[in-house]
Amino acid sequence: MNIKHKIIFGNSMSMNEISDESIHLIITSPPYFNAPFDYKGLFKDYNQYLGVISKMAKEAYRVLQSGRIFALNIDDMLVNGEKYPITADAIKIFQNVGFRYRDKIVWKKPDGYLRISKRSGVLLQNPYPMYFYPDNLLESIVIFQKGKFNYRSISKEIREKSKIDKKEFQDNNWHKTIWEITNVLPGSKLEKGVAAFPDELPYRLIKLFSYVGETVLDPFLGSGTTMKVANQLGRNSIGIEIIRDLEKVIKKKVNSNNIEIIERSNERYRFVTLDYIENKKKEA
Ligand SMILES: C[S@@+](CC[C@H](N)C(=O)[O-])C[C@H]1O[C@@H](n2cnc3c(N)ncnc32)[C@H](O)[C@@H]1O
Repeated sequence: MNIKHKIIFGNSMSMNEISDESIHLIITSPPYFNAPFDYKGLFKDYNQYLGVISKMAKEAYRVLQSGRIFALNIDDMLVNGEKYPITADAIKIFQNVGFRYRDKIVWKKPDGYLRISKRSGVLLQNPYPMYFYPDNLLESIVIFQKGKFNYRSISKEIREKSKIDKKEFQDNNWHKTIWEITNVLPGSKLEKGVAAFPDELPYRLIKLFSYVGETVLDPFLGSGTTMKVANQLGRNSIGIEIIRDLEKVIKKKVNSNNIEIIERSNERYRFVTLDYIENKKKEA
């Protein structure tokens, strides 16, 4: 099987290169608003952020085949002491563009996960009421569907080739609404500064929601985790990423000689560079 991948360097608010109903599964993790460390000051305000999510969701609905799934890894974000209800707002946005809100899986990281700060330490220093700030170990994977899937549209041969290993499904607890998955460790060099999700996340989603030979889209490709796993599982993929400099990282991670690069040059939604992002963070 000739598996192909395509990286579009540009802004996923438009997906002009992708034709209507040509994608079989979308998996993505957008930036979490102005998350401290990763995206500090990237968006002017929360409304601008929701505008990006909304335009991306509209395009995603257009390119996704009827009956298919969009799995959105997202979480509420604490910025300067205020929690932004990103998950709830994203669900509303997706419903408004036509998606059906089908399920929510909670991704639980290991108990020792301390990426940014141990907020609960405040109470240990001040063991009195009103000093409680919990450490967050959770993110959501929200499952949306475009209409209803036609199970008869898949040939017997492809169904068998895509069969899910029942032992893996049960032994690794895929059947629950809590998925315990170890996060990408902070020291990881390849994913530095990208807030990558672990391979296991797209691995489960691709196996559960797509068939061999189909096409998976990630509109916020980052270091290319979705593309890497799609390649390993015999699925084609398309990724959209705004940071042009990530090409090397993605190519190294995916390790396929069938990657086409599309670089938007002079249209409205161009790519940006890592320097641009770093300067934005400094200005914030
Ligand atoms: C949370 S990271 C995705 C990480 C990815 N799942 C991985 O495993 O590496 C979000 C990515 O979206 C990119 N991005 C942010 N805004 C974008 C936009 N409007 N269009 C395309 N990519 C964007 C960021 O540069 C970042 O690499």
